[in-house]
Amino acid sequence: MELSTGAIAEHLRRGGTSVVLRLEDTELPCLLYWGTDLGDAETAPILEATARPVGDSVVYANPVVALLPRHSSGWLGRPGLVGSRAGRSWSMSFDAVTHEVAEAGTPRWPDGAPGAVRVRSTGTDAVNGLVVTTELELHASGLLRLRAGVRNTGPDGYEVVSLLPALPVGEQANELLDMTGRHSRERTPQRRPFDQGSWVREAWGGRPGHDSATVLCAGEAGFGFRRGRVWGVHLAWSGNQVLTAERSPSGWRLLRGGELLLPGERVLARGEEYWSPWLVASWGEGLDELSSRVHRFLRARPQHPRSTRPVLLNVWEAVYFDHDLPHLLDLAERAAAVGVERYVLDDGWFRGRRDDTAGLGDWYVDDGVWPDGLAPLTDRVHELGMQFGLWFEPEMVSLDSDLAREHPEWLFGTGRGPGVPSRQQHVLDLGHPEAFDHVLERMSELVARYGIDFIKWDHNRPLVDAGHQPTGVPGVHVQTLATYRLMDALKSRFSGLEIESCCGGGGRLDLGVMERCDRVWVSDNIDAHERQRMQRWTSLLLPPELLGTHVGSARDHTTGRSLDLDFRAGTAVWGHLGIEWDLSAVSDADLDELGEWVAVHKSLRDLLHTGDVVRADPTDPAVWIEGVVAADRSDAAYRVAMVEHPLTDPPGRIALPGLDPDRTYRVELVAPSDGAVSPADAPAWVKGIELGGRVLAEVGLVCPRLAVDTLVLLRVTAVRRSAGGGGAPVLQDAR
Ligand code: DGJ
Repeated sequence: MELSTGAIAEHLRRGGTSVVLRLEDTELPCLLYWGTDLGDAETAPILEATARPVGDSVVYANPVVALLPRHSSGWLGRPGLVGSRAGRSWSMSFDAVTHEVAEAGTPRWPDGAPGAVRVRSTGTDAVNGLVVTTELELHASGLLRLRAGVRNTGPDGYEVVSLLPALPVGEQANELLDMTGRHSRERTPQRRPFDQGSWVREAWGGRPGHDSATVLCAGEAGFGFRRGRVWGVHLAWSGNQVLTAERSPSGWRLLRGGELLLPGERVLARGEEYWSPWLVASWGEGLDELSSRVHRFLRARPQHPRSTRPVLLNVWEAVYFDHDLPHLLDLAERAAAVGVERYVLDDGWFRGRRDDTAGLGDWYVDDGVWPDGLAPLTDRVHELGMQFGLWFEPEMVSLDSDLAREHPEWLFGTGRGPGVPSRQQHVLDLGHPEAFDHVLERMSELVARYGIDFIKWDHNRPLVDAGHQPTGVPGVHVQTLATYRLMDALKSRFSGLEIESCCGGGGRLDLGVMERCDRVWVSDNIDAHERQRMQRWTSLLLPPELLGTHVGSARDHTTGRSLDLDFRAGTAVWGHLGIEWDLSAVSDADLDELGEWVAVHKSLRDLLHTGDVVRADPTDPAVWIEGVVAADRSDAAYRVAMVEHPLTDPPGRIALPGLDPDRTYRVELVAPSDGAVSPADAPAWVKGIELGGRVLAEVGLVCPRLAVDTLVLLRVTAVRRSAGGGGAPVLQDAR
């Protein structure tokens, strides 16, 4: 509806979410509201209700902060677009802005994701020779995506320094949550007040990094998994990047994100354009709802892995570089016997790769170690009915390799050679078309020859001094896109080929790389105690079917901690299960037990890989409850883990969130088979109980006296509709 100001309110509604935009004819959209569905409320009055008094200073009141905040409008925070023509054309303003609203699948937006709606706004700045566009999409899940583009229409080069769109969040947002970490300790949450100023999380290593913020959230103080309004953003990009939370004295609370560009990295010639990566944004009453929107969005994509996720064996921690065929064959036999469906040969199979000092880049099977090639192994693996996976690190090169000796110019550098080594390796500049083609052809030849079903794609060092030879101009942006192209080319050549994104563990698990990957390696650290935290927080972004979760050896190779098999396996079954353990040194009793856990996973995985992820807000910090609930809420599974010594004895009750409050469920303890507690310590309900969904969420179950680093898995199945509580009369059979 038109207002006297010339502004229009546009109300988008999808997936329980409303977004209200203020659209004007000389400004990019301003987001007035983003949160719970407002129904068919008249939205034009919202313009009036939210119009800010200006007083005598537009600059200090900031009446409108657009999706790309504009310095020339009086915004005194970081401008949305920073750039110039060698010092000119640095302050954009618009002569005119047009807005187009389009539903997916209509002529205006034929290839949009089903059910989505998009607002595309284009601003023309004739004075500066720029055309600036924002695209905001609201998807069926209620997930938002936002990106911005700039096109140079001027006569000379325009350098983009940064393009950083912004999403305002509600004024309730007083607290920030994001993640940090390091190699083998990824996804550690951190919180702080959302004070005035900026909280800035940057990644300059050519990848999001092990300390990646991953999802930057702003919410009501004390927000948890099930409570408190919260908004969050993630950048779908695998190169240099930044996420910021910016709170201004004029009351704006912005979540922002974009690519970090190196000096001179994007200079647009006349007619050229640059797009920021997608800023993926979600909200919820608690983090569970926020993450369920992301999971639903991912699961709705055509490329999302829908086939049953095969249980895999990865041989890395079993053999490291010691590739001995009889041992590797023995592992294959034992793996098949415990129910493994995919066998992955890790690092060490290619020319000269006897340790981590040499060989990267020489993607030929080492004929010293593998005189008959990989066929003796791959044939047996296939005969045993398993898929075969192989490790590559395509973007890397060892100085001690034929590739580096023959093509030193393919290594990144800024004029002083290849720069500092990291893990004794350097980065292959895929911006050289010949280097790109070389790697693509080598990988293709091996995938075709050995019938490879799965690539574990590693990336063990950050990009520093990533200059493209011979000039040394920055190459990170081009490298990021080239990596995507390499993955895309392999996937289009080999239908059904799956890729795991590994980056010395979880240094690259963003939604950019996940456009073309089917699994992430959450961390090199498979200590189940640590994995409880890392998997819980990684699942804020990625659903369980994408998380590589392995059962390791009794004494963990990274931390030295010794843990029972039940805890290691019970932790690993909650994802895409794998085993990374020298099975040739495992007792028959442990192999039997491992086989039982593989069977537990197989009985769970259909539910686990499609259901809604829920987590209880702990009443005792020692007791972690995670669950997955089928979309129709007829079936659920929960894992209760004791991650430290509890505050009370017995520990506080277990509440099971996410069930249908009006159904009665049967609760059964399904694993471990010995129940994890002595009969004397076991509450009565562990023999099985029927209770209403409301009772399970509100009253809960007494927690068994679990030792630290033990867990139980519960299966919870709807048996009938109830009349509003537990154990109520049968009204209707839920199945
Ligand atoms: C780092 C990975 O994360 C490990 O799982 C393993 O693949 C090694 N690289 C191999 O070098």
